[in-house]
Amino acid sequence: MSKSLDAPATQADRTVAQVIDTIADAASDVRTAIATEREHSGTVNPSGDEQLAADLRADELFEERILGIDGVATYASEEREEVATSDGRLHVAMDPLDGSSNLEPNSGMGTIFGVYSERPPTTGRNLLAAGFVIYGPVTSMVVARDGRVKEYVLGDDRRVVDDDVTVPEDPTVFGFGGGVDSWTDDFRTFAEEIRRELKLRYGGAMIADINQVLTYGGIFAYPALQSRPEGKLRLQFEGQPMAYIVEAAGGRSSNGEQSLLDLNPDELHERTPLHLGNASLIDRLESETGQ
Ligand code: AHG
Ligand code: MN
Ligand code: MN
Ligand code: MN
Repeated sequence: MSKSLDAPATQADRTVAQVIDTIADAASDVRTAIATEREHSGTVNPSGDEQLAADLRADELFEERILGIDGVATYASEEREEVATSDGRLHVAMDPLDGSSNLEPNSGMGTIFGVYSERPPTTGRNLLAAGFVIYGPVTSMVVARDGRVKEYVLGDDRRVVDDDVTVPEDPTVFGFGGGVDSWTDDFRTFAEEIRRELKLRYGGAMIADINQVLTYGGIFAYPALQSRPEGKLRLQFEGQPMAYIVEAAGGRSSNGEQSLLDLNPDELHERTPLHLGNASLIDRLESETGQ
C-alpha cells in the first residue's frame, strides 16, 4: 500500500484516506482492464447502459478492494442493482468506468467516487469526500475533501500537481451533452449564447470535460432533454460527487433549479439534469431557463 495522500486525524479521516489510496493504487489494473477487456458483455446496467467487459471488471475489482477496507460499510455502483455490504461506517458509491463509449476510440475515460456518511441512496450533503481519476496521457486524480480540491499525477510515486484547484474567474470552455435537437427551447437559447462566447470542449466523458472546466473555467452540462426530462447522468454516482468537487473548487452545480447537493435521491440509480461550472454561468442558466 503506497503512503497515504495526507495525514488523517479521526477514524473517518483514516477510512477516507484509505479509500482514496485504494482507488489510486487500482489505476494500473483499471488501465489493464481498458486495454484487454474491450468486448461488449451483452448485458445492461440498472440505468439501461450497455456494459463493456471493462465496466464489469472495474466494478468487481473496486468492490473487492473497497469492501476490504475496515471502516467501509457498503459499496454501490452504477453497474450493479444492489448495494454490497460489509461491516464498517462509511459508504462508497462509484462510477467504476466513466466514458466507456470512449474505449474503442481511445478517448478520455475515468473513475468517479463519493464517500458518504450514510448508506445510498442519500443526499450529496452526506458526502465526506469525492474525486475522480483520468486514465489519460498521464494518470491523474482530483480529490475534494475538507473543502479543498487537490490534483495528483499517479505513477510510481504520487505527486501533487495542484494543491488548491479552483475554477478560474474567467470562463473559457463549454461542453453540452444530448445534442441541439434534444434540448428544451430554453436550454437551446442559452446554449446559442454560450457557444458564441466560449470554446467547445466536449469529449464524451464527463470527468475529462469537467476537468477542462476546473482547468480553464466554463460550464459542462448534460441537461434535461425533451424526451427525457431527467437527463442522462446518474445523481448518486456522477452528479453528486462531481458537484461536490466543483463546488469545493469555488464553482456551482445545478439541476436547473438548485445545487445537486441539495437533492435527495429516492432511487439509487435515478438520473438528473446536470450543469456544473463557474457560478456566474450557472446563475445565468438558472435565471434564463427558470426550470
Ligand atoms: P458512462 O460511460 O459511465 O456511462 O458515462 C458516460 C456519460 C458521461 O461520462 C458523458 O458525459 C456522457 O455519458 C456522454 O453521453 P453521450 O454519449 O450521450 O454524449
Ligand atoms: Mn455506462
Ligand atoms: Mn459515467
Ligand atoms: Mn460508467
